[in-house]
Amino acid sequence: MQLNIAFFASHGGSNMQAILDNIFHGRLKANASLFITNNSNSLALERAKSANIPSYHISSKTHSNDDNRIEHTIELLDKYNCNIIVLAGYMKILEPKIIRHLNNRVLNIHPALLPKFGGEGMFGMNVHRSVIEHGEKFSGATVHIVDEVYDNGKILNQMSINILENDTAESLAGRVLKIEHILYSDTLKKIENSRILI
Ligand code: GRF
Repeated sequence: MQLNIAFFASHGGSNMQAILDNIFHGRLKANASLFITNNSNSLALERAKSANIPSYHISSKTHSNDDNRIEHTIELLDKYNCNIIVLAGYMKILEPKIIRHLNNRVLNIHPALLPKFGGEGMFGMNVHRSVIEHGEKFSGATVHIVDEVYDNGKILNQMSINILENDTAESLAGRVLKIEHILYSDTLKKIENSRILI
């Protein structure tokens, strides 16, 4: 399957960057077709512009009317022939209309081994703090399909790491982010080769 990716990100965009690097080096055959952010000050936006991806800031600041915002997003997805959305640290819920428009081909990466440590409020350091507090032996990252409930859709791919005795939430976060950078591209490659079907 030829992937024409629309990236959605709100902050650093390191996961998107890892995917872009793999595309650049020919390890992934996907096209980086579109970038959308709700944060006009994000590093992710700078990264997307540097990679010459058509980039747009769309938020309640640019569109006070939700329907207009959703319609504009859908127009852009069509204009750039996007057939998959890759959420990479996108801090907004994606409206069902947008998800349906792409036949549910919307992926997210979560910094823990779902179904544990997911759901509302489970983002950023909250996740890693909670994992440490629960005395888990492993953590990791999960790529899953996005549906209307936080961190709930079908799990597509996971990678785990050991939690070390002296791990803090911060040290764990750093190691999990590194495997996220491998896992997201690995998942896209498997979708490309029909080894994961979505
Ligand atoms: C990652 O930890 C990811 O799991 C979560 O948001 C973070 C995004 O990091 N969904 P970055 O913006 O890709 O650096």
